[in-house]
Amino acid sequence: MKPVKVGLLGFGTVGTGVVRIVEGHQEDLQSQVGSPIVIEKVLVQNKAKARVLPVDADKLTEDPWDIIRNPDIDVIVEVMGGIEHTKGYILEALASGKHVVTANKDLMALHGPEILAKAQEQQCDVLYEASVAGGIPIIRTLIEGFSSDRITKIMGIVNGTTNYILTKMSQEGAAYEEVLKEAQQLGYAESDPTSDVEGFDAARKMTILASLGFRANVALEDVDVKGISKVTRDDIAYAKRLGYEVKLLGIAERQDDFISVGVQPTMVKTSHPIAAVGGVFNAVYVYGEAVGETMFYGAGAGELPTATSVVADLVAVVKNMRLGVNGKQAILSYKEKKLKTAEQIASKYFMLLQVDDRAGVLARITQTFADFEVSLESVLQQPNASHREAEIIIISHDASKAAMEKVLKAFEGLDAVKRVKSVYRVEG
Ligand code: NAP
Ligand code: HSE
Repeated sequence: MKPVKVGLLGFGTVGTGVVRIVEGHQEDLQSQVGSPIVIEKVLVQNKAKARVLPVDADKLTEDPWDIIRNPDIDVIVEVMGGIEHTKGYILEALASGKHVVTANKDLMALHGPEILAKAQEQQCDVLYEASVAGGIPIIRTLIEGFSSDRITKIMGIVNGTTNYILTKMSQEGAAYEEVLKEAQQLGYAESDPTSDVEGFDAARKMTILASLGFRANVALEDVDVKGISKVTRDDIAYAKRLGYEVKLLGIAERQDDFISVGVQPTMVKTSHPIAAVGGVFNAVYVYGEAVGETMFYGAGAGELPTATSVVADLVAVVKNMRLGVNGKQAILSYKEKKLKTAEQIASKYFMLLQVDDRAGVLARITQTFADFEVSLESVLQQPNASHREAEIIIISHDASKAAMEKVLKAFEGLDAVKRVKSVYRVEG
């Protein structure tokens, strides 16, 4: 059978893995799809750069149009990153009938609906398994594995850098800045770590997961985002004492067709399986009305894990080519998006307060919660050496986000509350 020709946009970490897998597993791939898969051309920024994996010099190009407008190329594999110019290349490739596989979460979170609509119009495939949680096949699982169910909750540790930092802080009692520096030296965190530590990377991935899980077009601006840069070692120590781990969780929930999506450092009960996910690993917990609890765990990044997902998408595209069914996927975003209000978003909360240590203070604090109908699950007071101030740790029962915001506002006017040191959502 005629070989399927692939144009690879990008030959960095993931691109190198794609070439390794396509070449190294060629026999298996060919047996599955019925024809050879050939990497025809590879786009790079700088042809002169030394490569960890040699490729024929005549395959390398610095001109994207050598690939996008090459009539011999059937499939574009985009692993170069970038947003606006990359979107332009992909739309042009689709316009000329090429199928697309991409690992680009930034692009899919921002422009996914437009790109997928164009793909459908052109009867082309756009597959993007590697864009969320690297080697974990979570996108295919949400689209196909759960097609018969109604998913009501998706919780993800979808950023390895922050999970590494929080795991180290928890295991070693180290401070955030210390661990971040070490993670940068080891190459786990980037020199500008903002996108990871402030939760933006996780928010993009949760936009994709929530859209697929809830069959609606969730936008990046619908995601409430808070990162880990303010997590202290005291917070983690208190969490551990109470039987929790602090994790940066993406949480997407649906109730009566209303949805919410957020990314925030969360206290997770140690008995919950997601609390045990350590280091750079990722995990996605999915709750379906019929299936109940499920969880998917694995490498969220890295050359070969990510390339595994990319090449699996490539195999899916080629199988569709053989069957003549490209661009005929089920319609995914058929639900109208209805977002929950702050009154409808409910969870348990942890709060750490620094207060005056004198008569009546605890009563005033608990009264404030009662004023906004927030019921408390537990209260713990820690005196400090001076006996003038104390720390109060409160865990609430399920309360609405709106009620908690009112409680926090009321504390601003309460003399006895010196400082709200931290507030966390609680899960498990
Ligand atoms: P990378 O190592 O930085 O590689 C990027 C590659 O693209 C390089 O070969 C670079 O060329 C080329 N490139 C970048 N901009 C270009 C441009 N404007 N024109 C031509 N070539 C260009 O990136 P990566 O880590 O492989 O990530 C690639 C994509 O996969 C990103 O969207 C990323 O978010 C996604 N992803 C990565 C991982 C991971 O573990 N790394 C996991 C999941 C998803 P030169 O080699 O000449 O510089
Ligand atoms: N920066 C991301 C992470 C890489 O730390 O998980 C994979 O998208």
